[in-house]
Amino acid sequence: MEKKLINVAIDGTSSSGKSTMAKALAKYAGYTYIDTGAMYRAVTLYCLQHGLIADGKVDVDRLVPQLANISITFKVEGGVQETYLNGVNVEKEIRGLEVSNNVSPVAAVPQVRHALVHLQQEMGKNKGVVMDGRDIGTTVLPDAEIKIYVTSSAEIRALRRYREMQAKGDTSVTLADIVKNVQMRDHIDTTRKESPLRKAEGAYELDSTPMSADEQNQWMIDYYKRWMASHGYQA
Ligand code: DC
Repeated sequence: MEKKLINVAIDGTSSSGKSTMAKALAKYAGYTYIDTGAMYRAVTLYCLQHGLIADGKVDVDRLVPQLANISITFKVEGGVQETYLNGVNVEKEIRGLEVSNNVSPVAAVPQVRHALVHLQQEMGKNKGVVMDGRDIGTTVLPDAEIKIYVTSSAEIRALRRYREMQAKGDTSVTLADIVKNVQMRDHIDTTRKESPLRKAEGAYELDSTPMSADEQNQWMIDYYKRWMASHGYQA
């Protein structure tokens, strides 16, 4: 059987387990995993470092001419992918609260989206990529051979985040607060003007609510294996 490289687009809401399953598939298939959320987070960090965002408002006029100076790359270290902003490892910083609290307005700037979408399309042009985000199947890689749209109930996603925070010793918020926050972010993601989160044409919708992380990862690998076999390719 012929060995063939394909692209896999995984979209879905936050905390739906999409990045874990994307990484599991990339490892299984020997593909490159691309975390597009990390790219929006890196641009947000750049804005924070350069005073280009205040009170949730982005200084678009000053940011746009600087977009060409922002280089975002990934390097795999010890099997783990790390994000670099202009040559500096920013993996830890982009996961922090300050970036999380400011990323939505940055990701809503059309010029930021155009620049990052272009970069993501370049990364996917030679195939062999598993990319996750909100607009991969609809906008970035509409020709991806496999498209998955992951959903999960707001309650279960909030519970996952709540447990993560508790494990880190953060007891400042209640589960009910997190449910509200998850619902609010879903609303922003699905109703924004520029590339809203929605199921792409031809995407398979997976409801991960009843699944454990291991089950979800295995489901993704099995789906890929079935897709390859049914198209006459070696997985
Ligand atoms: O997946 P994440 O939580 O790391 O994403 C961070 C933010 O970036 C989130 O607010 C949604 C946004 N995002 C986006 O608009 N488009 C993408 N392709 C990926 C993420």
